[in-house]
Amino acid sequence: MTILVTGCAGFIGSNFVHTWLASSDETVINLDKLTYAGNLANLKSLQGDARHVFVHGDIGDRALVDQLLREHQPRAVLNFAAESHVDRSIHGPGEFIQTNVMGTFHLLESVRAYWQVLPETQRQSFRFLHVSTDEVYGTLSPTDPPFAETKNYEPNSPYSASKAASDHLVRAWHHTYGLPVLTTNCSNNYGPFHFPEKLIPLVLLNALAGKALPIYGDGQQVRDWLYVQDHCRAITRVLDAGKVGETYNIGGWNEKPNLEVVNTLCAVLDELKPRADGKNYAEQITYVKDRPGHDRRYAIDARKVERELGWRPEETFETGIRKTVAWYLINQAWVEDVTSGAYRQWVGQQYGA
Ligand code: NAD
Ligand code: DAU
Repeated sequence: MTILVTGCAGFIGSNFVHTWLASSDETVINLDKLTYAGNLANLKSLQGDARHVFVHGDIGDRALVDQLLREHQPRAVLNFAAESHVDRSIHGPGEFIQTNVMGTFHLLESVRAYWQVLPETQRQSFRFLHVSTDEVYGTLSPTDPPFAETKNYEPNSPYSASKAASDHLVRAWHHTYGLPVLTTNCSNNYGPFHFPEKLIPLVLLNALAGKALPIYGDGQQVRDWLYVQDHCRAITRVLDAGKVGETYNIGGWNEKPNLEVVNTLCAVLDELKPRADGKNYAEQITYVKDRPGHDRRYAIDARKVERELGWRPEETFETGIRKTVAWYLINQAWVEDVTSGAYRQWVGQQYGA
């Protein structure tokens, strides 16, 4: 048996492939465009492993996706591929519409054509799983209840609007054409292979390089953090047992203001890799201009996936963040690889000199 998974050279996708192949011999066909966020070094340990087949290409390339589906006859397609960084979507929303909206549309059309002519038993068991985000729900006040699956969509950034559009397409392809879809909406992930444009790896690497740790606005925006491998296990669980047409919110009950996250990171670094001058990394914290339209608070009500599918996160924030810091300290070659080239241009554009 085979699954086709898109975007697996990125952060969550590559963690998914590692988690999947650690407990299954089912082949993964990995379709990835290798944008700035795609990195085959994330999959280096799988070199020579016949269970992982990498295909360089775009989810919006109908001819390529049609051919992959014909050739590999997957029992499921999982869509991780996306433009994923909110700040980049503010600077240039076009790519987000192209991949997240148009790309998902073309992928759905290819999958629909493939699924429609499958023999009946395979048609019944086939699944299209769409990986989405809690950002589609908009922002919460401090006293609002966390996002349940019934919460209306109120996306506020070009990124979240493009993801919301893709979720709506997936929903419509189920209701209109009967495509057996599942959608997951997850909160902020962190862990190995996280590209250092995002808060946690950015702060970690800046701290070690003696640079400023940029906090947008007052640093009191709240995110709900989940260790990436817990997210990957939840996706597998939804694929195995999720009810067709349903959405599942995934989160770790770990709401934290950004400033607290950064202070925790600094404290773990103080312990594992103390500064040469004996000072604390927290001294590098710098307040910078806020993100336009910055959502104040995200929080996930994960009771549905816990109750119906028996999923629970294995890591707390405290255990997950230690594992993450340790991973970045050990994997210096990976860090040097991703922080060269195009990444430097981004840092210059976003944070100035
Ligand atoms: P990422 O940016 O690290 O990786 C995205 C991957 O998709 C890259 O490998 C990139 O090359 C690939 N890609 C981009 N456009 C493509 C295209 N047109 N065709 C094929 N491949 C393409 O993103 P991530 O953080 O790993 O997120 C993966 C998915 O999970 C996204 O859909 C994102 O919206 C969702 N998500 C992310 C988080 C998070 O905290 N990072 C949380 C919830 C949901
Ligand atoms: O909630 C899920 C989403 O989490 C995913 O859908 C997105 O793909 C993923 O990028 C992430 O979005 P955020 O915008 O929450 O993540 P980011 O790491 O960019 O920022 C986390 C918080 O930290 C946010 O409130 C902005 C703030 N921040 C970020 C950066 C990069 C800073 O204060 N300083 C920074 O330099």
